[in-house]
Order: sequence, then structure tokens, then C-alpha cells
Amino acid sequence: MIVLGIETSCDETAASVVEFKNKKKKILSNVLYSQFKEHSSYGGVVPEIAFREHIKLIDKITLQAIKKSKKKFLNIDAIAATGGPGLHGGLLIGTTIAKGLALSLNKPFIAINHLEGHILSPRLENNLNFPYLVLLVTGGHTMIVIAHKIGKYEILGATLDDALGESYDKIAKLLNLGFPGGPQIETFAKKGHPIFNLSKPLLNSNDCNFSFSGLKTSTIRNVELEKNKKKNFKYDICASFQHAVYKILETKCKNAFQIFKNKYPNKNNFVVVGGVASNNFIRQKIKKLAKSFKFNLIVPKKILCTDNAAMIAWTAIEK
Ligand code: KG4
Ligand code: ZN
Repeated sequence: MIVLGIETSCDETAASVVEFKNKKKKILSNVLYSQFKEHSSYGGVVPEIAFREHIKLIDKITLQAIKKSKKKFLNIDAIAATGGPGLHGGLLIGTTIAKGLALSLNKPFIAINHLEGHILSPRLENNLNFPYLVLLVTGGHTMIVIAHKIGKYEILGATLDDALGESYDKIAKLLNLGFPGGPQIETFAKKGHPIFNLSKPLLNSNDCNFSFSGLKTSTIRNVELEKNKKKNFKYDICASFQHAVYKILETKCKNAFQIFKNKYPNKNNFVVVGGVASNNFIRQKIKKLAKSFKFNLIVPKKILCTDNAAMIAWTAIEK
């Protein structure tokens, strides 16, 4: 089976061809344009700009994905596109192109849930069997999920306000670090020390829900207090923010490990997916944590953590 996947739900215009043949999975092409330049002066994604960029790029990106895969449109068995959640303009572009192609090639069109794409992405490059535990941390969502099987996902907890990636982006904007904020904060944090005790909401709620708005407010307060005092305060603020983020993730993961073990005593696969999963500090810390609880951690390679179309094509193949 060969599937063309299209992803346009936010600020990445992406297309990919994935093949599943003789039980072997292969990404034949994975083309992506990240609209960082277009949105950076705004410190976040501007939906109207994203929409117009997708219109400009989608033809070129799709054709490149086909060309790089060394296949022809006629070899494609199905066309998949992200159907949601996401920004409406982008979703409209991706699904319209995919439906048009499907109609003209007389092949099925498959709409894919973006979050399911992230959740199933580790199965593209690993031998990962169901059930498994998932920490999903993106720019729009933060949740802990049990993937029981394809199409059956149990949400153990989710953010009650901001998503984790969104919090990274907002703090980066506050500190004038550019967009997207996650990688910038990670870089700045390496030079600093976690000297500020920032608030960690819901730490004792004994569940898997998250709240990041209080952490954001407490970071803003500290920035206001410190910005004129120390030359390198940005490094320390970033290190303190990341430290607080990890402490929250650690507590929630521990709660989730317990719930998962009660349901599946003999299973131990744990995956972290989404843009924030590409953060090395978070990856390393969670790896240690998983090991100490006898969980086997799987994190997709970075290009498959952030938004991409290979996960969309793969999810269509799974379905
Ligand atoms: O999964 P993703 O590409 O798109 C969504 O589905 O939202 O995630 C994007 C988010 C952004 O908020 C970005 O700042 C964050 O992932 N991100 C990171 C890093 N790289 C991307 N956050 C922390 N550290 C990183 N290295
Ligand atoms: Zn995403």
C-alpha cells in the first residue's frame, strides 16, 4: 500500500509518501515547509497568513513529495489529509487538494485526526505494539492517553488551559526570543540555572490533568521583577521555566504510570510525541524517569515529533 499524506493544520505545509509492503514500513518522501519566517515577527501563528502560505505552497510541496518518492500519482493507493483539529483555513486547503486528487485518480480520500497522527507516529519506525501509554505535548494540545488499539484512545488527563508548546511560545515571546519559542528556550536554558521557584499548578491534584497558565503568570512576574537587575536573567528564567515544566510532567507521568500498570500489569511501552518531545532536556529527563519505573521509552526522531505529513500517511495506512 502506498499513501500520499498531506498536513496543513497549522504552520507547516507538508506532504509525504509512505509505503507498507511485505510488512515493511518505509517513508519514501517527507517534504515540509515550516512558515517560521512568515510568523516570527508576530511571536505566534497568524491564521490568515498561514492560510495564504498554504495556498502558495501546497502544489509545489505535493509534487515534490511525489517526485522524491520516485512514484507516480498512478501508483498511489489512497490520499490522506489532516481533517482536524487545526486552523480552519489550513485544513480547508489540505483536505480540498487531497479530495481533488482522490477524485481525479479514483482513489479513496481519508481524513485523519491530527492527534491520532501524533499518537501513532512512533509505530512508523518502531515495533511498538498496543496498548501503550502516550504523553502528547504539542503547540495546541497536552494530554496523557492510553492507546488501546487503533481508534480506541483513552484520555487520562489533559490541559485545563494552555498547551505546553503554546506556553513555551508565549514565554519566548515575552523574552523576545523569536518564534517558535520551544527551541529558543531550550537553547537559552542551557546557559542558565533554575534559580527561580516558579509555580507548578495542579502538582498535588493526584490526577493526569495539567495547567500551565499559572506557570506562565509566575514566569511573567519574575521577568518583571528581574529584568533590570541581572544581565543574564533570561538564561536563568528559561532554565527555571524548563525545570518547572519537567517537574509537572514528572508528577503527571508518575500518576499515569500507576493507572496504566493497574490496567495492563505486563505492558510497559511509553511514548512521548508532539513538538515539545523534540526538546533534548525533556527527552533525557523523561528517559531516566521511565527507566526508574521500568517503562520502555520510545520517542520518534525529531522530524517525526513536530508536525509532518508522514504521520498522516502512516495513520491512513493503519486505518
Ligand atoms: O506538534 P507540533 O509541531 O505542532 C502542533 O501540533 O501544535 O508542536 C509545535 C510546538 C510549538 O509550540 C513549539 O514551540 C514546540 O512544539 N517545540 C518545542 C521544541 N520544538 C518545538 N518545545 C520545546 N522544545 C523544543 N525543542
Ligand atoms: Zn501537531
